[in-house]
Amino acid sequence: MTERLEANEAGISRAAELLRAGGLVAFGTETVYGLGADATSDTAVARIFAAKERPRFNPLISHFPDAEAAFTEAVADDLARRLADRFWPGPLTLILPRQPDGTISDLAAAGLPSVAVRVPRGTVTAALLRATGRPVAAPSANLSGKVSPSDAYHVLRGLTGRIDAVLDSGPCPVGVESTVLDLTGTAPVLLRPGGVTIEALAEICGPISHPDDYTDTLPVSPGRMASHYAPSLPVRLDAQEVGADEALLAFGPELPGAGLVWNLSPSGTVDEAAARLFAGLRFLDSEGARRGLTRIAAMPIPRAGLGLAIRDRLRRAASPRPA
Ligand code: TXA
Ligand code: MG
Repeated sequence: MTERLEANEAGISRAAELLRAGGLVAFGTETVYGLGADATSDTAVARIFAAKERPRFNPLISHFPDAEAAFTEAVADDLARRLADRFWPGPLTLILPRQPDGTISDLAAAGLPSVAVRVPRGTVTAALLRATGRPVAAPSANLSGKVSPSDAYHVLRGLTGRIDAVLDSGPCPVGVESTVLDLTGTAPVLLRPGGVTIEALAEICGPISHPDDYTDTLPVSPGRMASHYAPSLPVRLDAQEVGADEALLAFGPELPGAGLVWNLSPSGTVDEAAARLFAGLRFLDSEGARRGLTRIAAMPIPRAGLGLAIRDRLRRAASPRPA
């Protein structure tokens, strides 16, 4: 049975107790819901891979209540500290060398000499991490390859019966996953565009190379699979017109003639669109399939701010699926 826990003191302490006992607890962050387990326990972390049916042991992000806790597991240089000062708590994940005496399990780090650390925003999230008192490993709380969950009901749809509990802190305000920045080399490398924009990062890091989106030029991070966030209907990008047999993922004024529409942001605001992205993909997929539509057509999204993260997720939703 999967418990749905309220985001109050009792719910938070129950969630922390389950995590400390090696259980699986999904919890809200500012980006998406994470599927959490004690990052110091190989057996607890192994349950994450089993519950998600994740095909490979990709490294996971460890979550902390504050930077001080994060830097007991990851070696921070001056740049890492400046980034943490500016963006934590918030949707930025840093890849850093593991502390020699760190406690993160080898399975969570996939045996790498580096570790992914993040301090998510949100009072409930911070209270949970503080009450747990250990790093919490958490990928997005969905079955592998499926659309990420931006509320507790999305989590329950995919994972009921496979996890111990979900701590329901309501919908996720940012709506796309954290930006992943690798600081282990000589210059910072963007591994995944996300909730902290590249423009904001550049204010601290200077210019960062980033993908000319829709082309797969990102350096390969373990666990980056092209096909991801995949609805069951095929996805067509940069639609300039739409057919009656298609479901339209609109941005700004809607193209006429679609069989079904979800508007990410009628006013054409990328932040609003990011927060509505995964719910929209889910809606168009299930309702579109029910109505016998053949495809999801996505209108163009601007290449700036959170638009880069949205374009990255759409590109992956549109890429060919493994058989
Ligand atoms: O917003 C988020 O980041 C959400 C919430 C739950 O925090 N989590 C999330 O986790 O998106 P996940 O597992 O779906 O994505 C983690 C990404 C993967 O692309 C993984 O390959 C990369 O981070 N990663 C983790 N550890 C790494 C490492 N040591 N080196 C390079 N990439 C790493
Ligand atoms: Mg994911």
